[in-house]
Amino acid sequence: MTYAKLARFYDEIHAELTEDVDFSVALARSAGGPVLELGCGTGRLLWPMAQAGINVTGLDNSADMLALAHERRQLLGLQQHVVLESADMTRFSLQRTDFALILLSYNTALHLTTNQVIATLRRSAAHMQPGGALCIDVINPFLLADWRDQTMPEVERTFIDSWTGATVTQATTNYADLARQVVTVNWLFDVAYPDGTLEKVESAETYHYYYPHEWLPMLQHAGFSLESMWGDYDDSPFAEDTPRLLLIARKLV
Ligand SMILES: C[S@@+](CC[C@H](N)C(=O)[O-])C[C@H]1O[C@@H](n2cnc3c(N)ncnc32)[C@H](O)[C@@H]1O
Repeated sequence: MTYAKLARFYDEIHAELTEDVDFSVALARSAGGPVLELGCGTGRLLWPMAQAGINVTGLDNSADMLALAHERRQLLGLQQHVVLESADMTRFSLQRTDFALILLSYNTALHLTTNQVIATLRRSAAHMQPGGALCIDVINPFLLADWRDQTMPEVERTFIDSWTGATVTQATTNYADLARQVVTVNWLFDVAYPDGTLEKVESAETYHYYYPHEWLPMLQHAGFSLESMWGDYDDSPFAEDTPRLLLIARKLV
């Protein structure tokens, strides 16, 4: 479970990631709820949606990410508004099957192989009301296909870990397998504790990227029709050089 090692640093390294928040809240508002986020992680997007008055459920299979979500939910006093579920998105089965919106937010869908995508889309359709919306948000596959091996660690940031006071330097290396449409990103953390102790933490994430023509049949196969394809959070159309690929699909009635 790769997020086990990453969880303790996740919020710090994503502290500046806010550009998808208004977009997600707007989608949730127009769906009206209830909303399910698959791969909710530490809950970054759950709280603003819940604070906007939407009934929200977050599902994740990382005990470490979910533990942080539970803590944050308590801190924010959102226990009545946010349900947290521990499950694998490829085979989840929840009591509630009337979700108006299901989100696969910021790059979560990149973690899935083709078979896992199909299984996740099918489980999603089984938990949605007819006409419900599905939103998938990933890095533009054309950009990912341009990534090349980067074997020398590239330092991304240094921050103070608020839990331990340690100074953490985060670097990454990448390995691109063009034939398989897979990029492996290794996250490397050098942790220097205030008492002088040093620790090295490594976590590898695999990104599977799919082009629109590959998403389409997977969506159709699971009972969705594609409604829009955007290239960023401002509803601009998808193109080869847009930063994101945002797919909005509807569950067929
Ligand atoms: C890129 S993080 C995104 C977290 C959160 N959505 C956000 O935007 O900050 C991906 C999340 O998906 C979860 N995940 C990956 N594969 C999963 C699976 N098969 N079932 C459930 N959760 C999964 C990981 O544990 C992680 O928390």
